[in-house]
Amino acid sequence: MPNVDMSVTLAGVRLKNPVVVASGTFGFGREYGQFYGLGELGGICAKGLTLHPREGNPAPRIAETPMGILNSVGLQNPGVDAFIEEELPFLRQFDTKVIANISGNTPEEYGIMCEKLAGAGVDLIEVNISCPNVKAGGLAYGTRPELAAEVTKVAKAHAGPVPVMVKLSPNVTDVTEIAKAAAGAGADALSLINTIRGMRIDVNTRRPILKMNTGGLSGPAVLPVAVRMVWEAACAVPGLPILGMGGVSKGEDAAQMMLAGASAVAVGTALFADPYAPLKVRDELAALAGRQGLARVSELTGGVKPW
Ligand code: FUM
Repeated sequence: MPNVDMSVTLAGVRLKNPVVVASGTFGFGREYGQFYGLGELGGICAKGLTLHPREGNPAPRIAETPMGILNSVGLQNPGVDAFIEEELPFLRQFDTKVIANISGNTPEEYGIMCEKLAGAGVDLIEVNISCPNVKAGGLAYGTRPELAAEVTKVAKAHAGPVPVMVKLSPNVTDVTEIAKAAAGAGADALSLINTIRGMRIDVNTRRPILKMNTGGLSGPAVLPVAVRMVWEAACAVPGLPILGMGGVSKGEDAAQMMLAGASAVAVGTALFADPYAPLKVRDELAALAGRQGLARVSELTGGVKPW
């Protein structure tokens, strides 16, 4: 193993390594915990929570695509209270950081959830204003700077000492507008990108494959879009930490994200093909940093040399 310090800091939270698992791809960790100790991970971002339990959207809600998947899950989750009572104690057994991802129908709902989660002692709150699969909240907040700022302010006002990270959508003309709005409203970090809206159609039935007609695209196909948007956001709000995600499945992908400006990286869809993907990304990233003679993996952050 190369002698590289893999620890990084994200919004003041120290991660033992920069590889986090992305919300919605890891449940609450129980299934993956059968494969390896969850303390191997830099952090776990739990499945997106809402104030009340949700059953999600009707099936089919997952469709494969070349180099990715479309999902229209619709925020299926047991609700924030059940997470705090039943899932957080499980996650807390492991020496890793726990990130709660929240979606609200109104800014007030974000505030209530932040208060509950801060009281329960999560390490970071990811404020999801970018879910493309719900009618209320979600993307509506993530595509308008003034609403993104309003939600961020409410979250910050209710999160106490817990840092607030705002999750941005790629489904915008200019991600820097939303990044600046969240930063101006006090966000401690940004995470990006959520999924890109997409559609598949069965040419025989002429029906969309997904019952909701459209869904969010993730997986290796979106990596270059994600790297570009991380870079744009990092340039727009210098100094604000970024958790980069979107199509990361190799150490080199993670290095691209960090060079673009990310302090840490989330692995998501790659988990569906290989539960060990985050550990492989971590080890490949350590090897890459070692080959480049770096003492600390954090030296990659923002290191891109644009032409
Ligand atoms: O539909 C979903 O549960 C996805 C959530 C998201 O992309 O934020």
